[in-house]
This record gives sequence, C-alpha cells and structure tokens, in this order.
Amino acid sequence: MNDAIKALADRLIATGHLSKEEYCALIDGRDAETAEYLAKAAVAVRQRYYGTKVFVRGLVEISNICKNDCTYCGIRRSNRNCERYRLTAEEIVDCAVEGYRLGMRTVVLQGGEDRHFTDDVVCGIVRSIKGKHPDMAVTLSLGERSRESYRALREAGADRYLLRHETASEEHYGKLHPPEMSYQNRMRCLRDLKELGYQTGCGFMVGSPYQTTENLAGDLAFVEAFQPEMCGIGPFIPHHETPFANEPAGSVELTCFLLSIIRLISPKVLLPATTALGTMHPQGRELGILAGANVLMPNLSPVGVRKQYELYDNKICTGEESAQCIACLAARVAAIGYEIVTDRGDFAKDE
Ligand code: 5AD
Ligand code: FES
Repeated sequence: MNDAIKALADRLIATGHLSKEEYCALIDGRDAETAEYLAKAAVAVRQRYYGTKVFVRGLVEISNICKNDCTYCGIRRSNRNCERYRLTAEEIVDCAVEGYRLGMRTVVLQGGEDRHFTDDVVCGIVRSIKGKHPDMAVTLSLGERSRESYRALREAGADRYLLRHETASEEHYGKLHPPEMSYQNRMRCLRDLKELGYQTGCGFMVGSPYQTTENLAGDLAFVEAFQPEMCGIGPFIPHHETPFANEPAGSVELTCFLLSIIRLISPKVLLPATTALGTMHPQGRELGILAGANVLMPNLSPVGVRKQYELYDNKICTGEESAQCIACLAARVAAIGYEIVTDRGDFAKDE
C-alpha cells in the first residue's frame, strides 16, 4: 500500500466519504494490504453498533415467472429452458411460519415480476403472516411496482423492501437491461419506497458485463447519497441460458473490498454476505462477514423449487432443507467467532 492509497484509506475511515475520483483511485490502486487495512477498520465500526452479531433473514423464492428480460438473469422471460413455478399463497405463508418456528424473525419474499402477484394477492399474504406472527418483519423483493402498489403493500404491513439499483450509471443500466426498462423508473421506485417509510435496500453486482471502475465509484457515491438501510452486493455470475453466458464472473476479492468500503460509508447499514458470494468461493460468505457484512439469507423455499430459482449457474443451498441450511450457517458463523441472532435485526437506532 503506497502513501497515496494509505491517505485515501485513512480519510475514508475518518470521514466515511471520498469523491468518485478518489474511489476510483482506491479501487484501482488497492492491494492485499489495503484490503486488510480497510477490512479491519470496517469490522471495528460494525462492532460499535452490532458487536459480533450476524442477522439471518429467511428467503422464500415465491415465483420464477418474470415479465422482464434483464440480460444477466437466468429467469429472464426469454429463457425458454427454464421450468417455471409459482408458490401458492398458502405455501408462502407456510414457509414463513416454518422460518418462525426455526427462530427467524424476518422473512424475505422474493420473486420475478410475476403478474399473478397483484396487490390484493401480496397484501393477503403479508396480512396472513403478520396475523400469525406480528413480531416477524416482512421484507418484500418483488421488483418494480407503482407508488400506489408500494403504498398498499406497506399499509398491509410490509416493513422492508429490497430493490437493487443494479448500477448507478444510466448508460451502464442500458447495457444490462432491455430498452423497455429504465434507470429512471428504477430510481423512482427507490425514492417511493423510502418516502413510504420502508426500510429500503439497494445494491449492485460486482463485475457485471461492461462495468468500469468509474461505474463502481458511482455506485459508492449513490450509496452515500441514498443512505439505504440495507445494501446487497454480490459478484456477477454468468448463467448459461443468457446472452452473458460467456462473460467472466465478478471477483470475490473485489466484492469483499467493496463490502468494507460500504461499511465505512454507512456504519449501521445491514449488509448481506450473499449467496452469490458463497457460490463463487467455498468460504465466500465467511470472507464477506470478515470484510464487514452482517447479514445472511438462508433459503426457506420448498426444497423442490430451489434449483428452479436459478438467477446464475451453480447456485449453492439448493439441496438442503431449511433447518439444515440454518444449522450450516450457524456453524460457519461460530467458526469465525461470530454469532447468529434471530431477532428482527432492525437498522441500528441512534444512541
Ligand atoms: N449473477 C449475480 N447476481 C445476479 N442477480 C441476478 N442475476 C444475477 C447473476 N447472473 C442479482 C441481481 C438481482 C438480485 C435478486 O440477484 O442484482 O437484483
Ligand atoms: Fe444453505 Fe449452508 S447455508 S446449506
């Protein structure tokens, strides 16, 4: 680590802010020593608010039917070789109840943009989960919807919403998505979610096709400005039935470096060590936690559909039942000196 990089790292640690040019210099000029230096600082600030706690959110993959055609995604509508499924409302509520029984106090309902899941249908599911377990936080991750829809879901009891911005560059966004999707609408959705009082998660892929260092610096500047409660980042992994089948995957090392930076920008942010990170490296999720992440999302979906929710190739955790998946994560977390906690894991309040 040369003096210029050390000075940037120290200023990021002290202020939680750098300019886009400085983020570029830090990313391009990093070495193993820089990564270790930032990871240590990231772990120290996380320690202040969350100690060694790692929060678990049970993920229920409710449908792989999607009206969109995102170029990177394995369940895009153009993929004719994807066996489609949709869970019933009853199955979804059962998964949440099973998660509760296993100790989880947050459930994430994620799916493709499936027209079946109208406001009435989703509101019914949210009300049913909240009716059975009022102390369970319900997080939705159902893509782009209207402001009125987000409002209805919020009024039904949804607490949080995850919608990755994917890239904070309009030009790069256009290279990853079909023309009928727009960066402007994505940003409108994120603004609406925040204004409606959701704890909101944004995020992006690391190493997506055409991504430049400037794009990543833009993503970091966006995280600074938007101040999300959650931020999901993971390596891009090609899916064989997409136009990006032959593109290289993103790196675990750079993902971990960015996790540390995001932790320093936003000390209290809830930051998952993603399944994609675990797919790219046998200890990927542990490496993510050691870089500053503090959330894990074990799979709560019925085992029979897990392989079909294939956003990218070789996804892990497709064979284990929910209880095994949680036990596996708890053991992994304990082995690196952290502890799984089952409470709601809300964004830390100011002291
Ligand atoms: N590789 C890695 N992540 C992906 N996602 C979608 N496709 C891929 C892929 N091929 C991510 C997107 C999306 C989230 C649910 O999964 O960022 O928002
Ligand atoms: Fe799912 Fe290990 S976390 S099997």
